[in-house]
Amino acid sequence: MKINKNYQELSRDYLFSEVARRVAIFQEGHPEARVIRLGIGDVTQPICPVVMDAMKQAAEDETHPETFHGYGPEQGYDFLREELRKYYETFGVKLTDKEIFVSDGAKSDLGNFLDLLDRDNTVLVPDPVYPVYRDTNVMDGRRILYMRADRDNAFLPMPDPEQKVDVIYLCSPNNPTGAAYTRDQLAEWVAYANQQHAVILFDAAYESFIQDAEVPHSIFEIPGARTCAVEFCSLSKTAGFTGIRCGYTVVSEELVRDGMSLRDMWLRRQTTKFNGVSYPVQRAAAAVFSHEGQEGCAKNRRVYQENARVISETLYQLGIWHVGGKNSPYIWMECPEGMTSWDFFDDLLRRAQVVGTPGSGFGQNGEGFFRLTAFGTPEGTREAMERLARCYGKER
Ligand code: MLT
Repeated sequence: MKINKNYQELSRDYLFSEVARRVAIFQEGHPEARVIRLGIGDVTQPICPVVMDAMKQAAEDETHPETFHGYGPEQGYDFLREELRKYYETFGVKLTDKEIFVSDGAKSDLGNFLDLLDRDNTVLVPDPVYPVYRDTNVMDGRRILYMRADRDNAFLPMPDPEQKVDVIYLCSPNNPTGAAYTRDQLAEWVAYANQQHAVILFDAAYESFIQDAEVPHSIFEIPGARTCAVEFCSLSKTAGFTGIRCGYTVVSEELVRDGMSLRDMWLRRQTTKFNGVSYPVQRAAAAVFSHEGQEGCAKNRRVYQENARVISETLYQLGIWHVGGKNSPYIWMECPEGMTSWDFFDDLLRRAQVVGTPGSGFGQNGEGFFRLTAFGTPEGTREAMERLARCYGKER
């Protein structure tokens, strides 16, 4: 038996596992410390009642022979795909039900979609980047090119028409930087991908946080995207499903490479390797798109947006450069006093008992930066910012 040696090329731990490991060690040595976690983007507000009522009702359905559900369609129940189709219509995007695939989350689909792609493809990823794009391709041994995202390009790298690539990862609003592409910028990417016959894997997990009208919610708002893009989205951040697990992927029927339909390939892959998301979870997901569900999600989102404002205001008062927090729940800040990302992580944990995510964990251009999430509780976020101000304020 031979193992996949590409795993040797990965860092020892996945970024958020490494963060959790260091926090656990600190907590063991300081059991009295009240650690505030603004590291991994995990939500804290409870799921709105109408959504959980739908799940409870679905659980009840399973106890009666006439409403019992066994295996469901691997690509998701029609009732949920229909809600998703209508949701996309609110952005002016027309999809067929066949193009929508329900899954247990964007992270799994982003990794699983690589089953469809030959190893001999060149992959373009931004740096800094959500580590899943990089690590899943390292696991497969694909060639990865990095595009520099930095203060000069407002962390929104644009295509280089001279560069030949096959697969392009874009995440907008961006994790980790919070930067978001405008319609015009995405149109440039779509034109480039079509011209190169490349495929854009577009991560829209944070679309519900968009506030600016010129920032598209979906890449399919851009003419030409149907022939070059796949979109991954999730209810984790939109509706608080980080624990419940439900996402969706849109593969256009017009996306064809080497004479093969990627939609058909994805259907084949999913029907072979996946048995679908549970019925109660899909009922809950469908309720997210009801009027009450949307209101409940918006209420929670306002809590996170206020957290983002508190973080941003604190950093502003401390004179710490930062971006994000407007169209996204992440704030991307420069580490104070010229510290490296991990040095600041340790310093902040030791002195303020606050956890964030080191920018260098997202790529080498993230070195010297740090990510804070707005998904904490309002009380925790305020206290974390008071501690940050005490530790890194000028008067100390
Ligand atoms: C993050 O903190 O970057 C995200 O929560 C991770 C994820 O969605 O998998």
